[in-house]
Amino acid sequence: MSFRQARWDEPLIWELRPPTEEAPPEPIPGIPERMRRRRRLAWPELSELEVVRHYTRLSQMNFGIDTSAYPLGSCTMKYNPKISEKLARLPGAQEVHPYQPEDTVQGSLELIWRLERALAKITGLPEISLQPAAGAHGEFAALLIIRAYLKGRGELDRRTEILLPDTAHGTNPASAAMAGFTTREIASKDGCVDLEALRAAVGPTTAGFMLTNPNTAGLFESEIPEIARTVHGAGGLLYYDGANLNAILGVTNPGRMGFDLAHLNLHKTFATPHGGGGPGAGVLAVTAELGRFLPVPRVVKSGRKFHFEYDRPDSIGKIKTAYGNFGLDLRAYAFLLSHGEEGMRQISRRAVLNANYLGKKLGEYLPRPFRALVKHEFLLSGTPLKAQGVRTLDLAKRLLDEGVHAPTIYFPSLVDEALMIEMPETESVRELDAFADAFRRAVTDTPENLHAAPQHLSVGRVDEVKAARDLRLSWKDLREQRTG
Ligand SMILES: Cc1ncc(COP(=O)(O)O)c(C=O)c1O
Repeated sequence: MSFRQARWDEPLIWELRPPTEEAPPEPIPGIPERMRRRRRLAWPELSELEVVRHYTRLSQMNFGIDTSAYPLGSCTMKYNPKISEKLARLPGAQEVHPYQPEDTVQGSLELIWRLERALAKITGLPEISLQPAAGAHGEFAALLIIRAYLKGRGELDRRTEILLPDTAHGTNPASAAMAGFTTREIASKDGCVDLEALRAAVGPTTAGFMLTNPNTAGLFESEIPEIARTVHGAGGLLYYDGANLNAILGVTNPGRMGFDLAHLNLHKTFATPHGGGGPGAGVLAVTAELGRFLPVPRVVKSGRKFHFEYDRPDSIGKIKTAYGNFGLDLRAYAFLLSHGEEGMRQISRRAVLNANYLGKKLGEYLPRPFRALVKHEFLLSGTPLKAQGVRTLDLAKRLLDEGVHAPTIYFPSLVDEALMIEMPETESVRELDAFADAFRRAVTDTPENLHAAPQHLSVGRVDEVKAARDLRLSWKDLREQRTG
């Protein structure tokens, strides 16, 4: 096959077909004269080999879970099993159209329904929506549900405040603000919610409290029953940020802990690919009482048939085109089936073992602010490095030179120069040991090398503030930058 191009003085129409001596095709009818191309397209003149080498080189400059581990705390970067990818590419799944008649997509609807039932069991919260496209989207939708609930009770005017611990992920206060609430931070004590501070903060203005358990310090909030009593006693709702569900999978769940609403990130706990802000899936789970507020459509089963139901007068409405990211639902369902109930428990046990094993090893090089047994992740503080003028950022960059990914840094903010490390259950003890060795080499390197890192990658130290503020997103921008 090759591209055959029309003569230069003809309107340009491209056609993919074998080389032939035939006369050039007629221009496609219906394209107005003024919109037709007059000049040749400036296709790059490259051979196949050059193109292959270009893209292969680019792929080698990239970092991916298939080549190495991501110790990113809170992100739970798991291996994405190839079987799930294969299933998601089956024609019946890949080519299905979101607006096909329901009768022709019974299998897809059944899968959604079954996944929802499984997640209801896992979360202990009976009503589920798979619509949100990411965790933060799930948070926002849940906060809209809190609004709708309070409005129904005539309390929205006075219950305007969402409380959050100082270990909360940044998306929590952002979602609360977007949903029209004000936010108030509750101080932690020894890495967990300070109950006295919470008791002093709740009151007639409290709309809800957002919490992740285990929290972002990797610590299990064991006072959770009392936290739930305090928030409910003040008339607020308790929201579970499910980003850390991996640590308690099959052992306990948000429903049991007294939470009213939750989001889960399919792209964390259930090993679907991270979407870089979407397309992920930030499943919403709520109590039976709050089910009527979930987004439409809901997938319902009547008799042996499945269908979308839109007639839900109390629903917060539609929050996503079609019904969320179906390809991810399918991958997550495959993951659930392949592990089963006991497999879920093995996942969380192994994740906790990994965190404590690596935490103990790395604790030899930098202090751990909380010495308690952790769940899925742990914190280190880079404070001692400051004496040599080295910051946590320098250490993170130096780790890149070891061929490993850097951990999450400067979060949570309650720890000075924080490094937050999570190696999920998919990482072997060999991988943990290799990371510990790389960490030792990096943290004991000279300040000069730490400041200069990364020195062995295709891109050196970038000005991250400039990169965020002055985005250059296409090769044309780069060309202008070079010539301009
Ligand atoms: C604790 C916590 N909450 C919420 C989020 C937001 O999830 P998403 O990235 O899916 O929007 C994250 C993401 O890393 C997180 O770690």
